[in-house]
Amino acid sequence: MLRALLLENLHPLAMTILRADGAEVVARSGALDEDELISALEGVQLLGIRSKTQVTERVLAQATDLRAIGAFCIGTNQIDLRAAAQRGVAVFNAPFSNTRSVVEIALAEVIALMRRLTDRDKALHAGIWDKSADGAHEVRGRVLGIVGYGNIGTQLSVLAEALGMSVVFYDTAERLSLGNARRLTSMDELLEMADVVTLHVDGRPGNAGLFGAAQFARMRPGAMFLNLSRGFVVDYAALRETVLDGHLGGAAVDVFPNEPKRRGDPFESDLRGLPNVILTPHIGGSTEEAQESIGQFVANKLRDYVTTGSTTLSVNLPNLALDARTGVHRLAHLHHNTPGVLAGINRTLAENGVNIEAQLLSTRGELGYVVTDIGAELAPDVLEVLQTMPQTIRLRVLS
Ligand SMILES: NC(=O)c1ccc[n+]([C@@H]2O[C@H](COP(=O)([O-])OP(=O)(O)OC[C@H]3O[C@@H](n4cnc5c(N)ncnc54)[C@H](O)[C@@H]3O)[C@@H](O)[C@H]2O)c1
Repeated sequence: MLRALLLENLHPLAMTILRADGAEVVARSGALDEDELISALEGVQLLGIRSKTQVTERVLAQATDLRAIGAFCIGTNQIDLRAAAQRGVAVFNAPFSNTRSVVEIALAEVIALMRRLTDRDKALHAGIWDKSADGAHEVRGRVLGIVGYGNIGTQLSVLAEALGMSVVFYDTAERLSLGNARRLTSMDELLEMADVVTLHVDGRPGNAGLFGAAQFARMRPGAMFLNLSRGFVVDYAALRETVLDGHLGGAAVDVFPNEPKRRGDPFESDLRGLPNVILTPHIGGSTEEAQESIGQFVANKLRDYVTTGSTTLSVNLPNLALDARTGVHRLAHLHHNTPGVLAGINRTLAENGVNIEAQLLSTRGELGYVVTDIGAELAPDVLEVLQTMPQTIRLRVLS
């Protein structure tokens, strides 16, 4: 029986889906540190995590039973993807499931910053009637500058235009502009034009420190700044200075370089206590709708990988979309991508009288993944030959 370990309070739907497929599932609410994770993974084939659990090379080296990891979130930087692939561990995530939730909170924050809502709210809770139009603006007609025009950036672009904002964006990759949004050729150009700058770049290492004092200085006086992407992308000490000296009108920040591990843990940041600065504890994508959608999406990916070998949207293995097997057995062979592997497998099968009923191959850089449906039982010695091919990383027999 397959065993699954689900950490970090995943949506119950994930457990339901894996249990329905016959897995024994253990769920825990918090993240585990490296040593705790190593011992918890003994005898576990499927691991479900969010962003707090670090799956390092050391963890992977010792988790010899592990077959697949589900990152029930968007980012996968917490997992050593290459080390996982080299050990035949497939990694899946949910790249689209909470996009809408992030977009909605970003829009809410743009309006809240422009109207200084959180300052007014705090004052009134403190018993002060601060009725004034000073520093409060409509968003209609304002320029929204989106840095990173991917899943989130594009959807934000469409909804912001519906509010009457004028959208410009900058992306390092070629991106089709939606609606009337205008693509700019540099981030500097965007910073000089936008009334609101919002970051939606991905977490590639090169984005560390993307935004600091120089970028804040280029922004328009009184402009607003949002970061709902990754904490390490922004120099928050510089953001603090630029808010305190009055150059920026306000900011909304949802992600931090060092986030507390558990709910209720203390939080330290240069940004605490600043005027018109909205701080949220990495909840951009955290809605019940998104959690349910992520739980379902990733658990289905894990289930499909286990039952059919399908690697569609895996972030570290060659992608193959597979239906239920047609033969008696399915051989899912992950290997080093060198010439002759397919021929070697097929020769071994032919020499042992095993007929191939269907076969698909996909490669990704140094990895190859070939899935073969066969019409007969495979003798243990034939299996042994395939398993001990020098290129074999992992061979699974799905019956
Ligand atoms: N706050 C939250 O709760 C929350 C939830 C979901 C996603 N996120 C984060 O939001 C970010 C965006 O998510 P997504 O799904 O839209 O990602 P995505 O991969 O679809 O889009 C990212 C875009 O950024 C572009 N990009 C990367 N580096 C850039 C740079 N230096 N300058 C300009 N463009 C650059 C990429 O080309 C891509 O188009 C990610 O970092 C993700 O981790 C946060």
